[in-house]
Amino acid sequence: MNSENVSICEKIVSSSYIRQGSQARRSHEQLIRMLLEQGKCPEEGWSESTIELFLNELAVMDSNNFLGNCGVGEREGRVASSLVARRHYRLIHGIGRSGDIAAVQPKAAGSSLLNKLTNSVVLDILKVAGVRSVSSCFVVPMATGMSLTLCFLTLRHRRPGARYILWPRIDQKSCFKAMVTAGFEPVVVENKLEGDELRTDLETVKRKIEELGAENILCVHSTTSCFAPRVPDRLEELAEICAKNDIPHIVNNAYGVQSSKCMHLIQQGARVGRIDAFVQSLDKNFMVPVGGAIIAGFNEPFIQEISRMYPGRASASPSLDVLITLLTLGASGYKKLLRERKEMYGHLVQELQRLAEAHGERLLHTPHNPISLAMSLDGLQVKSDKAVTQLGSMLFTRQVSGARVVPLGNKQVVSGHTFKGFMSHSEDYPCPYLNAASAIGITQDDVTLCIKRLDKCLKSLRKEAGTEETSTVPPAEENSSADQL
Ligand SMILES: Cc1ncc(COP(=O)(O)O)c(C=O)c1O
Repeated sequence: MNSENVSICEKIVSSSYIRQGSQARRSHEQLIRMLLEQGKCPEEGWSESTIELFLNELAVMDSNNFLGNCGVGEREGRVASSLVARRHYRLIHGIGRSGDIAAVQPKAAGSSLLNKLTNSVVLDILKVAGVRSVSSCFVVPMATGMSLTLCFLTLRHRRPGARYILWPRIDQKSCFKAMVTAGFEPVVVENKLEGDELRTDLETVKRKIEELGAENILCVHSTTSCFAPRVPDRLEELAEICAKNDIPHIVNNAYGVQSSKCMHLIQQGARVGRIDAFVQSLDKNFMVPVGGAIIAGFNEPFIQEISRMYPGRASASPSLDVLITLLTLGASGYKKLLRERKEMYGHLVQELQRLAEAHGERLLHTPHNPISLAMSLDGLQVKSDKAVTQLGSMLFTRQVSGARVVPLGNKQVVSGHTFKGFMSHSEDYPCPYLNAASAIGITQDDVTLCIKRLDKCLKSLRKEAGTEETSTVPPAEENSSADQL
């Protein structure tokens, strides 16, 4: 309320009360002012009322909410359902302008501000999470795979003769398809088995560069966050190779913002060598609905070039969701989630180790993977191949989601390329296994229930197979009120 209206209020209700009310309002506005001035994630989270006040202020600056506006264009931000309007806080115009997702829209000052502030707050959070020297980023309303495609398409203009993308293998279809959809030929670099871990084969990367010729290679496409026993790529060495050979380097950091190790790898890679852009999912790192990613980098003009590649306007929903989330959590709330995730990783290691031992299995030794773990399933494989896949379906019906069972010898054709040993990131990984991950938001209850149900499934499968011994997992801590077993 402006000062004129406050004065009128004072004529209606006692002025001391109104003054107190205005002061209360000013404390919300003070927070908003700091956000506008600094463009950083506030250290402490905001209340819902501050966030809603702010979003309403933005929305009234968009032409679809002007009183008395008459629209005669083909896109006037008209929304038939008030439910839909409310779902979007009446910010209907989306972000960007025809031809540039970063451009300001004359019809929508509020949405344009939302877009710029979100990018700025997200940049701050990437720094907080460990990539201190990141210089530019933008939120794009596409998930990780398509965002990687956009990066490759941008590089095409810089390297029109290049056909190949060097790609240390990761068995996740979107990663492969991101390159094929962009029109490039992925050159799959098989991983090297080191102990239990699957690691980047740097010698093969160097050999492929020599064989194909650096000028024919669009980029190296590396990965940080991944399922164990694959571990994050050797980013520093890859970045050095890229710098030495003048080859761009795009990093898939799909769920790596939540891990200080993944972020450190990116920071170091950029320090010692070359990283042109790194891409991360919004939903996997910030607990928002699927649909957005952040494309970030160390060279502002290149990141702007990527944003200009996006044809047309874009949905503001992913930006709105992540901005609301970060304002709610504040930097301290986000850091707390990161700490808790790390603690839960340690807990998951202990519990999976205990379970593995009780069933004559092994927690695979994958210390370079900070998020995902793998437990061998040799015992199940002994009697029949089917038992391993059966475990997968048993876990699914028992509502254990995300625990991924990887049998031996899977063959899968993805966009015309046959992957032997698909899902295991290797043509011949020595054992079948089960994955579990400690991802942001995981709770102790998730771990407890998952271990209990896994234990039950394994017992029943071993009983069926006649391989049951006397082992039993000591009862997990009974601290779960949600246990439905
Ligand atoms: C390492 C990795 N990269 C990329 C993706 C694809 O992400 P999106 O579904 O956001 O495109 C995933 C999804 O699980 C992933 O694990």
